Amino acid sequence: MKTDFLVIGSGIAGLTYALKVAQDCPDKTITILTKAQSDETNTKYAQGGVAGVMDMDHDSFEKHIEDTLIAGDGLCNRKIVEIVVKEGVERIKEIIEWGAKFDKDKEGEYTLGKEGGHSEFRILHHKDVTGKEMERTLLAAIKNKPNINLISHCFVVDIITQHHLGFLVTKATPDIVCYGVYVINMQTNKIEKIISKIILLATGGNGQAYRTTTNPAIATGDGVAMMYRAKGRIENMEFIQFHPTALYEPGIAGQSFLITEAVRGDGAILRNNKGEAFMERYDERKDLAPRDIVARAIDNEMKVAGTEHIFLDCRHMDMEKFVHHFPNIYEKCRSIGIDVSKQMIPVAPAAHYSCGGIKADEWGRTSINNLYACGECASTGLHGANRLASNSLLEAMVFAHRCYLDSVKKVKALTDFPSTGEGRGEAVPDWNAAGTTAPKEMILITQSLKELQLLMSDYVGIVRTNVRLARAMKRLDLLHEETEALYQDTEISPQLCEVRNLITVGYLITKGAQLRHESRGLHFNTDYPYKSDRLQNIVL
Ligand code: FAD
Ligand code: SIN
Repeated sequence: MKTDFLVIGSGIAGLTYALKVAQDCPDKTITILTKAQSDETNTKYAQGGVAGVMDMDHDSFEKHIEDTLIAGDGLCNRKIVEIVVKEGVERIKEIIEWGAKFDKDKEGEYTLGKEGGHSEFRILHHKDVTGKEMERTLLAAIKNKPNINLISHCFVVDIITQHHLGFLVTKATPDIVCYGVYVINMQTNKIEKIISKIILLATGGNGQAYRTTTNPAIATGDGVAMMYRAKGRIENMEFIQFHPTALYEPGIAGQSFLITEAVRGDGAILRNNKGEAFMERYDERKDLAPRDIVARAIDNEMKVAGTEHIFLDCRHMDMEKFVHHFPNIYEKCRSIGIDVSKQMIPVAPAAHYSCGGIKADEWGRTSINNLYACGECASTGLHGANRLASNSLLEAMVFAHRCYLDSVKKVKALTDFPSTGEGRGEAVPDWNAAGTTAPKEMILITQSLKELQLLMSDYVGIVRTNVRLARAMKRLDLLHEETEALYQDTEISPQLCEVRNLITVGYLITKGAQLRHESRGLHFNTDYPYKSDRLQNIVL
């Protein structure tokens, strides 16, 4: 199969990009691949909303920029922060034009929420299901574009570079080129190749590397792992954001339900097992301090008391308003027997967001030619050492736009399809499965996944030490060795590829953490408790 533009991922980043390209280039073909149902994305689960300076009377670009820089703890790229904050408003207006509905008051003004680290109310939201509304809008909009072909249940295994043509490719190879991808067609279980002029990685996050996460099962860091295998540049993977308040449900494995930070923005208070409001002991901004500080404070309270959760107290809040703003949370709590007007909600931190990822420049260009990245899988310099709440939907839209501008220019300048004829595409070999046999037992995969999630949570979690990181690395080495053997010998499946990718991501997070000899933002190592004077991005 050949296509002009290939988009991997159907979350906010991939869909926004595809829509823009389709509008600008009605004569070009755009293919979107997604490994699950089209709306099964991190985007769909976003609750709090999208940050943007919509009320210039009370807010300003400077304030949003400053809040982002403070949260990022010295490591944000100021130029990128300015781009995202300033261009973000246009992108928000655009998705509103495409049909996204954000809550308004009786006077027709947007009701803006507040979350940790924000100095102003600036978060547009659709109740507590903002991501679902944005995803719905984008999926509806792409349906009207005849030149977009969305293929669901299609798992991308690897990006194709000169390596697949038989050339030696290393990190030092100056011009690595991406020609396309190998995919598992999950309807037929066949491995196919897709050749494209431009490829966009919009594969989202990697929360599934941890035992508890707010991320759905699709968040397995595939894009980052593929990029690393292709010898592309990855940076700042050690900055994993733990959301302070995932609902604690004993015995429930997999994705944890989020209690949005906007609940604290509306006045909810964190309390420890003695009922004490403890945040004032950690930061003067109390419950609305940036996420790294709140998650660490909760971790400490839990460790001191030996408990598995703390509480979020909403009992003093106006319940009519609560139900209006947070109907989904209210209903979820009710369904498990918690009446939020009378009982506190048990919560604990959970892996939530990857601040690092595929190194991308201000146009979303990666270190590999023809390959762009945006959304959660990319590292643009916006988040630094800790992402400001509700900045990621904004970043995804701004960078989808920028990737679109740059890549369309590139494709329009081409006189011919570069992957046909004498050239590159024809030379790409079919997938070689010779010598592999059907997998005998799934336990080898499922157990490796459990081991990985446990070791990452216990050794590479909110608080790290040199000994824990070294232990994690040893165990990752073994998991890597075993999984590579399985990968070489058996017919590949999405499950095997995901575990393999998560092990790579685990390695990149741990390696980044080992190389960072300081504590900054989301990375806290008790052996290096202070910030270094040297600002450094760790590129692997
Ligand atoms: P995603 O939306 O995750 O999409 C990734 C896509 O890539 C999926 O379609 C997936 O199937 C596809 N994919 C991945 N690997 C492969 C593969 N190998 N082959 C084929 N397809 C593949 N951010 C905010 O700004 N505000 C919020 O209020 C907010 N709340 C959040 C609440 C929760 C519970 C979570 C989990 C996140 C929240 N975030 C929030 C973060 C934000 O939702 C995500 O960072 C953002 O939606 C990521 O968008 P994306 O397009 O990059 O990736
Ligand atoms: C939340 O609603 O608390 C999540 C917001 C975010 O991750 O940006």
